[in-house]
Amino acid sequence: MSSIASIQKGAKNYQQLSITPNTSGIAVKGKITIPGDKSISHRALMLGAIAGGETTIEGLLLGEDPRSTAACFRAMGADISELNSQKVTVRGVGLGELKEPADILDAGNSGTTMRLMLGLLASHPDRLFIVTGDNSLRSRPMSRVVQPLTQMGANIWGRKGNSLAPLAVRGQQLKPTHYHSPIASAQVKSCILLAGLMVDGKTTVTEPALSRDHSERMLQAFGATLDIDPDTNSVTLTGQPTLTGQKVIVPGDISSAAFWLVAGAIVPGSDLLITNVGVNPTRTGILEALEMMEADIQRENARIVAGEPVADLRVKYSRLKACEISGDIIPRLIDEIPILAVAAAFAEGTTVIKNAAELRVKESDRLTVMATELGKMGANITELTDGLEITGGNELKGAEVDSYTDHRIAMSLAIAALNAKGKTVIHRAEAAAISYPNFLDTLTSVVI
Ligand code: S3P
Repeated sequence: MSSIASIQKGAKNYQQLSITPNTSGIAVKGKITIPGDKSISHRALMLGAIAGGETTIEGLLLGEDPRSTAACFRAMGADISELNSQKVTVRGVGLGELKEPADILDAGNSGTTMRLMLGLLASHPDRLFIVTGDNSLRSRPMSRVVQPLTQMGANIWGRKGNSLAPLAVRGQQLKPTHYHSPIASAQVKSCILLAGLMVDGKTTVTEPALSRDHSERMLQAFGATLDIDPDTNSVTLTGQPTLTGQKVIVPGDISSAAFWLVAGAIVPGSDLLITNVGVNPTRTGILEALEMMEADIQRENARIVAGEPVADLRVKYSRLKACEISGDIIPRLIDEIPILAVAAAFAEGTTVIKNAAELRVKESDRLTVMATELGKMGANITELTDGLEITGGNELKGAEVDSYTDHRIAMSLAIAALNAKGKTVIHRAEAAAISYPNFLDTLTSVVI
């Protein structure tokens, strides 16, 4: 354990992470790797489970969320080896052959697991599925997938007008559809495309702005035919393909790299190399935003690995400037807004983040939670209906803050604490394990 961080058990065995930067100053230095991409890990497990033959996955994220996906698909007949980051083997059941599970499927904290899986369940005729999740997931809107699936002929029941889990699904033969999604959501798009796999005909999804395209890339790699129209943000899938197991190599998660990019950018004297980061253009909004803020970030060694762009990222400390973030960039940095708010607290001027109301229905209401918790540390931060306004320059001071069991909040507050004066205590910090099980090890290794 480094001198800056310590962990204690708090009430109900929740973890309290205490961070006290040395008064003589710290810097963030070294060379690190980050855990596998969460979105790609879910999709590799799911497509492996429904394809014929064997899929091998290297670099799988070993966080709680992919573990939920693996458990659900094992319960429906997929043979998934023990999860480890070296190599996971999935023997799929073949398209349309998921078994009716003997018990409730538990998606835990994972919206991606529940929403993508619902597309597959709804399209498996004559089986009954019941899906649930933790407190957070049971309060998140499922109508955004239930409604289009119902338009395709699905039978789904749930609380509050079929919008909240637990949900019961009676699988059906679904019909072709063209769904115009009101939100740019990869979870919605992927749910409908996965449902379309079993449809006799074509399924099209059009979204208002382009969301992450990992499903499109991986579906094509497994053998599906997709027609992508970048001018209208539309994707059309031809149903009933033959899906064959593949070798998937999962790159590091740029959403996890984001914590270190901001740490390196705000802590004076920092110089950090983050290797093997996925830089799919539908995910690199964080790099564009930090560039607008005049952060010093270099991309090195750019390459394509198993169909996904990958690079090493070097970040050095620099004086950040405020910027405005809104419009089409939002879906490309949707998970990075909490840590961008931390960057903005150390930037000169007022940063405005707009069109980000989606943050209210993530693992927590990330607009309210960031405004409240970063505010406790002395940041000048105001919550807007659909965003945040942050004026940098206030010196942050250590405070008692809470993750609200949201992994990205826990880690964002830990990075803010590195540049705050005195001791910060983060309650329920164990939430980080959802997407970044060894976050604390890396924190203690890079801070010198
Ligand atoms: C994800 C999509 C995003 C993101 C989530 C993972 C995915 O959600 O916030 O963490 O893997 O498809 P939306 O696309 O619904 O905004």
